[in-house]
Amino acid sequence: MTHSDTSLNPAPILILGASGKTGRRIAARLRQQGVAIREARRPAFDWQQPDTWAAMLRGARSAYIAYAPDLAVPGAIETMAAFARQAAMAGLQHLVLLSGRGEPEAEACEKLVQRAGPAWTILRASWFMQNFSEEFLGDAIRQGAVPLPLGDVREPFIDADDIAEVAVAALLNPARHGGQLYELTGPELLSFPAAIAGIGAALQRDIAYINVPQEDYFAAMAEQGLPAEYIALVRYLFTTVLDGRNESVADGVQRALGRPAKSFADFTGAAAAAGAWS
Ligand SMILES: NC(=O)c1ccc[n+]([C@@H]2O[C@H](COP(=O)([O-])OP(=O)(O)OC[C@H]3O[C@@H](n4cnc5c(N)ncnc54)[C@H](OP(=O)(O)O)[C@@H]3O)[C@@H](O)[C@H]2O)c1
Repeated sequence: MTHSDTSLNPAPILILGASGKTGRRIAARLRQQGVAIREARRPAFDWQQPDTWAAMLRGARSAYIAYAPDLAVPGAIETMAAFARQAAMAGLQHLVLLSGRGEPEAEACEKLVQRAGPAWTILRASWFMQNFSEEFLGDAIRQGAVPLPLGDVREPFIDADDIAEVAVAALLNPARHGGQLYELTGPELLSFPAAIAGIGAALQRDIAYINVPQEDYFAAMAEQGLPAEYIALVRYLFTTVLDGRNESVADGVQRALGRPAKSFADFTGAAAAAGAWS
């Protein structure tokens, strides 16, 4: 099947997490190409309410699956097992799963999707550059000081626009991208202090990285009244996933799109010009 054949297919592509960092970029690109899409939003689709899934799956040809909040949280594996089974029974032909690099729980979810029956594509992504410009660290950067307990660990930050482009390519061309596991990273390893200095350079402002002892950081989150499950997830991401295991770059963007991944400087320039930190 050619690219344009799948673009014209009237059966919609289901997009889960359609208001999220990757889902909304994917939806925008597909909509612009005139592709039929179905955007899943709460309350119409809720991971915690399996009785909402059938109506979303009915008649869809394929799905982009971004789990929330993270494939590493308790219960995600069971939920993904049930969802993948139901998607196969509903007749979907292709599942594109957003996964997290360095998370054994996410890899267990990958296997469930790989074994569900439909064609599959796995997007195993590193830490998003947009965590610096959107909800996670965007406010702290706007305020000019970013407290973090992350020391010198380096991460190959990936641009969510690259993830979206790989997802769109996969969704429109399952014949080419089915059966592929793409490790999606940026082209370089950067520490968090270096990334924040790069944002400061793009903005021509001083943005301070403030190194905080881990336990002080998590205690401050608790004092702010953040939910215990959220603190546990951030602790897991900061102390386990960001322990240096992901200190390598991968070639997933190049393999999927035939071009290199965007650099952190590409991202900071575009985000600053778009007013992300204004
Ligand atoms: N950020 C990173 O650096 C990173 C790196 C690798 C992998 N990931 C993976 O990316 C995934 C998140 O994708 P994203 O960053 O594109 O999204 P996101 O920006 O985190 O937004 C979450 C999305 O999920 C939806 N959502 C939240 N709770 C839901 C529920 N109970 N049922 C159904 N939908 C729900 C939200 O919709 P509403 O709130 O509008 O309902 C929103 O569309 C996670 O699985 C995470 O592990 C993230």
